Amino acid sequence: MKPYEATQPPQDYSRYMDLGEGWVDRRIFWDEAIYERELEAIFARCWQFVAHDSQLPNKGDFLTTYLGEDGVIVARHADGKVYAFLNACTHRGNKICFADEGNARRFNCNYHGWSFNTAGELTGLPNEAEAYDAGDIDKRQWGARQARVESYKGMIFATFDPSAPSLEDYLGDYRWYLDAFLDNDEGGIEFLPGTIKSYANANWKFGVENFIGDAYHAWWTHDSGGKAMMGGAFPAYDPTDTFHASVNGHGWEFALEGFGDIAILGSQEIIDYYTEIRPRMIERIGNLRAHIFGSLASAAMFPNMTFLPGIHTFRTWLPRGPRKLELRIWTVVPKDAPQSVKQAINKACNMTFNPAGTLEMDDGENWEGNTRTNAGWVSRHEKLHYGSGLSRRIEHPDLPGIVHKGQFNDANQRLFYQRWADLMNARTWADVPQRYTPRYAGRPTR
Ligand code: FES
Ligand code: FE
Repeated sequence: MKPYEATQPPQDYSRYMDLGEGWVDRRIFWDEAIYERELEAIFARCWQFVAHDSQLPNKGDFLTTYLGEDGVIVARHADGKVYAFLNACTHRGNKICFADEGNARRFNCNYHGWSFNTAGELTGLPNEAEAYDAGDIDKRQWGARQARVESYKGMIFATFDPSAPSLEDYLGDYRWYLDAFLDNDEGGIEFLPGTIKSYANANWKFGVENFIGDAYHAWWTHDSGGKAMMGGAFPAYDPTDTFHASVNGHGWEFALEGFGDIAILGSQEIIDYYTEIRPRMIERIGNLRAHIFGSLASAAMFPNMTFLPGIHTFRTWLPRGPRKLELRIWTVVPKDAPQSVKQAINKACNMTFNPAGTLEMDDGENWEGNTRTNAGWVSRHEKLHYGSGLSRRIEHPDLPGIVHKGQFNDANQRLFYQRWADLMNARTWADVPQRYTPRYAGRPTR
């Protein structure tokens, strides 16, 4: 796979923030030229979530999604492997698949009818004998552009950058945290059928940075939603045993009570299920991670995959220009759970975190406001404060990554923007600095 010619960074993006002082320049949420650089330096380069194994169980199963603004088809081919390739015809460039998901043997372009198989190879040209003489086209050279595909515990990721590090290295010690969600029971997780799409006139980074560790907003923005779901306010904030942990720009904000997020779902059946399997979970992933799971927590993998582990909502934030995002949401359930528990999780998850849910609808309006006020030239040139918890960095004997104490904290957001600037400033992956000492890189995490 030939790499694209990398562009020299047109400017120094570090000038848009001072994370030691704790501020970020508002133009990164608005400026078209900065967004154009993001498409290359972030979205054409980083590993991004495209599907879970449970969404593509059979040969021919496919779904369509995006890496940045590049449409991709993700399909399980006849050889059993998953391929991801550009959803664009190599003849005149039309989309070759308009469906969101399905099962197919091939994708036929609407315009002149070229067809591509589920591995993205060009397999058929209508009226080939009449249109093409010998030597006009070598079909093997004109398949759809392939992305690299690697997976981690059923989660399938893709990148168009052949020089990107392996997915395992890209995740690094974040795998230690991910396993608390993906691998806390033998069956792992399963995506329930159905994708919910919604749109907001907001910059994609506001959604991601909220999930990477903005517990701070929940007590205010979601006060009434929380009361409606739980019959009372959110549990009192307890600064002990709450953390922000960041690895390569990925983040997880959590407590250790093992219960808060599950309680928000408001279903005794779900609480009983997790109470029953907790001993098994402790045996599998250890006491610490068995209590990270389920606690009041939220998480994001750089650049645009987020989830609430105990609430079971999982989402990607697809950029649609600097001022619009497309949100895709799924409910994730423990695969080995009884059907009734899966249904209870699905119902509760959708009552809280879908576009009409009691908690989700509070957020979008705020992020649209954060974005829209930048229409003002003066506003756009101001700074935003990201200084909460500047001095709370700690070394923790058991928690990998860069760890800060406390749940109300901007630490993970600062480290997300640090990674953003590192990538924006890098011509290739070789220029991206490693900002912490890995503990588990290259080794299994349990
Ligand atoms: Fe696809 Fe011509 S554009 S066949
Ligand atoms: Fe929220």
